[in-house]
Amino acid sequence: MSKVAIVTGGSRGIGAAISIALKNAGYSVAANYAGNDEAAAKFKAETGIPVYKWSVADYDACAAGISRVEADLGPVAVLVNNAGITRDAMFHKMTPAQWKEVIDTNLSGVFNMTHPAWNGMRERKFGRVITISSINGQKGQAGQANYSAAKAGDIGFSKALAQEGARAGITVNVICPGYIATEMVKAIDEKVLNERIIPQIPVGRLGEPEEIARCVVFLASDEAGFITGSTITANGGQYFV
Ligand SMILES: NC(=O)c1ccc[n+]([C@@H]2O[C@H](COP(=O)([O-])OP(=O)(O)OC[C@H]3O[C@@H](n4cnc5c(N)ncnc54)[C@H](OP(=O)(O)O)[C@@H]3O)[C@@H](O)[C@H]2O)c1
Repeated sequence: MSKVAIVTGGSRGIGAAISIALKNAGYSVAANYAGNDEAAAKFKAETGIPVYKWSVADYDACAAGISRVEADLGPVAVLVNNAGITRDAMFHKMTPAQWKEVIDTNLSGVFNMTHPAWNGMRERKFGRVITISSINGQKGQAGQANYSAAKAGDIGFSKALAQEGARAGITVNVICPGYIATEMVKAIDEKVLNERIIPQIPVGRLGEPEEIARCVVFLASDEAGFITGSTITANGGQYFV
């Protein structure tokens, strides 16, 4: 029987590429999303991957969502924490709501999904938790104090949990993408993108969602069992750690 993988924010952008790559690698995939029903329906029709709607910012909804996926597909072996949002503002203009929304989704969302999935992975002595952080969680980014804090938090969370999961056959890793061509990045002003961001990327282009998806498929595999607590930096050479 194929292993079950949940991908949060799995119906659009990087998440959609991850869902498709995992499906092509033989996993039974559930793609979670938050509210864009139209994109989710289109994704499901095109890929045949079932979609599940709940917010990762809501712990109870995550626990119920995981139970629903497990009833439909079987026990979750691979959890990909990909869902994320931006609410950018320079700090002096950042509102408490902008801070909270990003922390609730990008950091607490990772707890909310991983915690209900964790005990099952421990009992079955196998699990893969892969979280999509960001280059801006590694280097910090002006205008993104909320996002950088959450994404750096994801790395610390994963390093701690890797130590707890190791003896139970669970690996916990992070991928830090640089700038990837998705709607999130296309929302950036084109002039800023072309004149300020792309010139900072040594390979001279944005990354493709599939380039991140391939990292996920590798970390999810049995062959990656010795890799835990690590961070794969996939950013076209923009920042070295
Ligand atoms: N794009 C980049 O350059 C880049 C770089 C570094 C890191 N990242 C990270 O990579 C991840 C994916 O980014 P992306 O560019 O693919 O984003 P995207 O195109 O904006 O897609 C975001 C996905 O997350 C889902 N989502 C948002 N809030 C959610 C919530 N509360 N509960 C469940 N799902 C939620 C969205 O669902 P709906 O479709 O329902 O809205 C959507 O499927 C994010 O964590 C992002 O921070 C992206």
